[in-house]
Amino acid sequence: MTSVIFPACEGCYTPTPSRCLKEGCKCMRFDKIPTSGKAIAAGKAIEFAVNQVVRQYDNIAAKLHLGGRAAAYDDSRYEFIGGAQDNIRKKHYDKSLRLLWKAEEKAPWLGFKDCTAAEKHLSNMAMQSMSQDERDACRQITLPEFKKKLRKHYSPKERSAIVNILATIGHGEAYAWLVSSSLLSDVKSTGARTALTMQVLEEAKHFVVLRELLYAFDVDVPRQSVWEYILLENVLKAKGLEKFFGMNILVEGIALSFFGLMSTLPGLEILQSFHLDESRHTALPGNYLQEFPLTSWQKISPRAQWKRLRLILPALALIPNLEEHMAELGFDTFEFGGSTVRKISILAQRNGFFMLLPPSLLFALLDTVFNAYCQLFRQQHQFQRFTRAESTRGSPELGVEKKIFLTHPA
Ligand SMILES: [Fe+2]
Ligand SMILES: [Fe+2]
Repeated sequence: MTSVIFPACEGCYTPTPSRCLKEGCKCMRFDKIPTSGKAIAAGKAIEFAVNQVVRQYDNIAAKLHLGGRAAAYDDSRYEFIGGAQDNIRKKHYDKSLRLLWKAEEKAPWLGFKDCTAAEKHLSNMAMQSMSQDERDACRQITLPEFKKKLRKHYSPKERSAIVNILATIGHGEAYAWLVSSSLLSDVKSTGARTALTMQVLEEAKHFVVLRELLYAFDVDVPRQSVWEYILLENVLKAKGLEKFFGMNILVEGIALSFFGLMSTLPGLEILQSFHLDESRHTALPGNYLQEFPLTSWQKISPRAQWKRLRLILPALALIPNLEEHMAELGFDTFEFGGSTVRKISILAQRNGFFMLLPPSLLFALLDTVFNAYCQLFRQQHQFQRFTRAESTRGSPELGVEKKIFLTHPA
């Protein structure tokens, strides 16, 4: 038994299975295919019964912690578990797309071809409206010209120092890419997932663009130091909220500080864009935890606090490890370290990720250790409050950080 319904065309009321023949009628007509009503009803009944069994089984298994549905997704509400959380989506996903920058435009000499035809058209139009002098100033330089510029600005030792410092964060970007993609399965809500998805995209871009930038210095790129290796492996292996802390507060705080330190150097202006991206990534825990707050126990549990402190410890060993290269560029590695730890500590404290030591005690302890090192190895060293130093140099970057560290994240 087959059933087929041919609705009348609303334009001309012609009950026909074929296309409406009335002249000028725009109604969409489909040539329906006859189906078996019984077969369809039986299929639906079977699907309904199997669905009941599978869903119930998964619900019970999940309650007994024996597995259950792998995806944190609620298809009946067409939403991820945690709801829409459009606020997070607007503050991160939408904003990331608004501020999305392209390597082809920011650093054309690196060989990326990531601009859209419309972006290229716009930039050509802008060039046409300029005077010859302005056009010359904006002319896209080639890779050999960029390398020449680097050799003009820096000695081989200075280029090596820059690469050694930036390689630390270059390897960090590889881990940021890995960790942020693995965090995607840990966060709740559609909004937070869109935010993390943008972060994954941005970390991928950071990794490949920074790598090309470092290669342009024509200096060997060093491996990770063991301190960095331990730090990043521990973050990648951390679970749930501790991984979120390790990634978006610790690693992002370090990345923000590195880019803030280096972005004013000639040839490294593109790092300003990296800095802006990382500032958004450091704001994610604040926005996320407003919707899904930590419980009091999650904040103060001694085990959780120790896990966080343990994640930070290898980062402290990184500070003297960078001294030789920092010094070559006139940077005091302990000022950089003090400034970085202070910023990470502010972010951690504000978000409720306590770390056994209150910030004032942590800063006093670090200042003591850093000064003891300097007393031993620096001539005529005077006691310094390294944790009060500011290592970010560019004014736009300082403006961005002022918003993060003096106010709550937007
Ligand atoms: Fe990054
Ligand atoms: Fe990041």
